[in-house]
Amino acid sequence: MAEVRSTVGDTSWFVKARFGLFIHWGLYALPARHEWVKQIEQIPDEVYDKKYFLHFDPDLYDPEQWAAAAAGAGMKYFVVTTKHHEGFCLWDSKLTDYKAPNTPAGRDLLRPMVGAFRGRGLRVGFYHSLIDWHHPDFVIDDVHSMRNHPDRAKLNEQRDQRRYIEYLHGQVRELLTEYGKVDIIFYDFSYPSGTHGRPDTFVGKGRDDWDSQNLLRMTRELQPGIIVNDRLDLMDVEGGWDVRTPEQFMPRRWVEVDGQPVVWETCQTFSGSWGYHRDEATWKSVDQLLRMLIEVVSKGGNLLLNVGPTGRGEFDQRAMDRLTGIGEWMRRHGRSIYGCTAAPEGFQTPQDCRLTYNPETNRMYVHIFAWPFRHLHLDGFRDRVEYAQLLNDASEIRFTQPHDHQAEVDGSGDNTLTLELPVVKPNVAIPVVELYLK
Ligand code: GLC
Repeated sequence: MAEVRSTVGDTSWFVKARFGLFIHWGLYALPARHEWVKQIEQIPDEVYDKKYFLHFDPDLYDPEQWAAAAAGAGMKYFVVTTKHHEGFCLWDSKLTDYKAPNTPAGRDLLRPMVGAFRGRGLRVGFYHSLIDWHHPDFVIDDVHSMRNHPDRAKLNEQRDQRRYIEYLHGQVRELLTEYGKVDIIFYDFSYPSGTHGRPDTFVGKGRDDWDSQNLLRMTRELQPGIIVNDRLDLMDVEGGWDVRTPEQFMPRRWVEVDGQPVVWETCQTFSGSWGYHRDEATWKSVDQLLRMLIEVVSKGGNLLLNVGPTGRGEFDQRAMDRLTGIGEWMRRHGRSIYGCTAAPEGFQTPQDCRLTYNPETNRMYVHIFAWPFRHLHLDGFRDRVEYAQLLNDASEIRFTQPHDHQAEVDGSGDNTLTLELPVVKPNVAIPVVELYLK
């Protein structure tokens, strides 16, 4: 495989961490029917604020519990929505009144969160929406909650996107100077006219509407080493992004840009929407989520898994069940995730399995998605394995390297190694065989 594209931001810790928590928390937790609800239902500001701004009262908010849940699941970093598209700010910004301290919450909700997660050793990431459906200078485009307003053109005459840019940059400056070291910034998102298969008549926003170049320059200046995602509309600019972020999508292989593999992270939800959604029934199981994580690491990527806390300020039971289940597996199998990446060339992935590899310890991990009967044939592994064990209990797995009659029977190549597995599947969600390579 070609060398992974180097990044301006420090991704050395990131590609070892592999697993992070995304948090989408804002006023939209109250309607509890998608974080885009203002846009989808085209709710006017007055209505939205009268309902949700005035009633936002997360009385059970305990960031220590959130951080404990994330750490317990084995997550190594978190990324929280400082502001989502609705424009509401979780922190005590000096540049707006539209912030948590002015709701019944009555305080900066971000600061204690950052402290709690840092206290558990997690790295800190800020998601920040470029889009703002609340700010009076944000020019109404085809994605705006007021896109169909009869006076759109007239309203836009009063709006000055340059003033919005000042606000955007000013707020990012606050976030990157007042909360200590920030490891990741996740800008969201650009949708320039005439892209993503949209018609040329579509009115969107891109780099000029955020002044992305200067925003990026300031970001890197204020927080040297910070990792920047790929949504500033600077894909074609040298150093314009560090991490590719496929959303709710499992790439087929290691993500590439211009034929070169890159640092990448897929963000995924439990049930479809990012904000707390009461009625969604499409929750992924612990088993599916673990497979997702394993699959991502086997392709050299990271998984950023999202929780949408409730309006009371809690992770709901469905989220907790999943985080706990994941943590249960991670406690014994984290070794096959942290510091791991795709298997080097030459090792073939056996049927129903995913391989991950730790280059520092020179160990290979065979994740067995469907438990076979006794024999697992590993092509390309012959003479390369020193010792093998089940990861969950460190019990030896014996192996043979068939030359003789066995190879004749089943046509195994002379590069095959065969694991002798127990008949009964170990009592863990996904069993892993750890191979110490020579
Ligand atoms: C999106 C959505 C969104 C979510 C996000 C996560 O582009 O607008 O609601 O925050 O990406 O990647």
